[in-house]
Amino acid sequence: MENKISDIKKAFLEKIQTAQSLKELDEFFLELFGKNGQITLLPKDFSKISKEEIKKIQPLFNSTKQELEEAIGNRRQAIKEKSYRNLVNEKLTFPHPVWKPRKGRLHPLTTFEQETVELFKKIGFIQFEAPHIDTDEYNFELLNIPKGHPARDLWDTLYLADSDLLLRTHTSNGQIRAMRELKLPMRVMIMDRCFRYENLDARHEHTFEQFEIVYIDKGVSMANLQYLSEYFFKAILGKDIKARLRPKYFPFVEPGAGVDGLCIFCKGKGCKICGGVGWLELAGAGMIHPQVLKNGGVDPNIYSGIAWGFGPERMAMLKYGIKDIRQFKNNENIY
Ligand code: FA5
Repeated sequence: MENKISDIKKAFLEKIQTAQSLKELDEFFLELFGKNGQITLLPKDFSKISKEEIKKIQPLFNSTKQELEEAIGNRRQAIKEKSYRNLVNEKLTFPHPVWKPRKGRLHPLTTFEQETVELFKKIGFIQFEAPHIDTDEYNFELLNIPKGHPARDLWDTLYLADSDLLLRTHTSNGQIRAMRELKLPMRVMIMDRCFRYENLDARHEHTFEQFEIVYIDKGVSMANLQYLSEYFFKAILGKDIKARLRPKYFPFVEPGAGVDGLCIFCKGKGCKICGGVGWLELAGAGMIHPQVLKNGGVDPNIYSGIAWGFGPERMAMLKYGIKDIRQFKNNENIY
């Protein structure tokens, strides 16, 4: 009996140590401890031997049983750990792609605005912020647009009930703040959201972006305006683009200008998009009015300045061929 137990132990310990899979171990377990397993059946033979011998055999039987159980448990654990390690190091290769790569990207308006800001950073402009909700004073009065002035009709304004506050209609509400807060000479740019009470159509949103620069120094002139317009249009729309200034009324600049870019579609020949003119109005601009400079605490006898602004959505529509301004916010793919 002693030999039989030792033989079973020796044979199975060897097999267990070299087992390579959990399935093999399950089979050995059944062979040993199943209903008809070799260890399970052993006590049946105890009736054939003397009581003295049983006293000797029983501890050997118990320790063998325990040893074999432990050996299976340990080997099971080792096999599992090895397969986990293999999983970690395994390269996933699929015969066919099982998912599509995600096509996420920045919104075209964000890309366009970042490009614009970088362009003006290169020539020394810094970003400046002004509030979305502002006073009538900063948005209109200090910009030569007093209450009751007909020029107010140029901006369809959303006022906050029972207060002097409004949703700013343009980034020009930052002009006086920049003059009052910053040192001269100054080159600032404001890129942000504006709001108007508009009839919505392909070119008009109630909430839209504006970009504006304010450049004040000694001897700044319309020539700087022309240069900056061309610098920007060429970088954004291509090197063939020319800019021209045309007289236009804005109460806070004198002279005021509409800045046109040569039509990128017909290169000046005249087409449907530019209405046969050959030019597209791209920005509003002008020399900052002396009274506005004074309102900002700047002496117009020493300094002069230019302000220049455009609507990024309208410019991006032109650059990317987007036909309706409302597509920027309706969350559909607009490329
Ligand atoms: C202004 O708002 C002036 N503050 C611009 C300016 C700055 C003039 C500095 C002189 C000196 P205007 O109302 O034209 O001007 O608006 C400027 C640009 O904002 C427009 O050319 C257009 O591109 C954009 N814009 C105006 N209203 C809307 C709208 N409802 N939806 C989308 N873009 C608009």
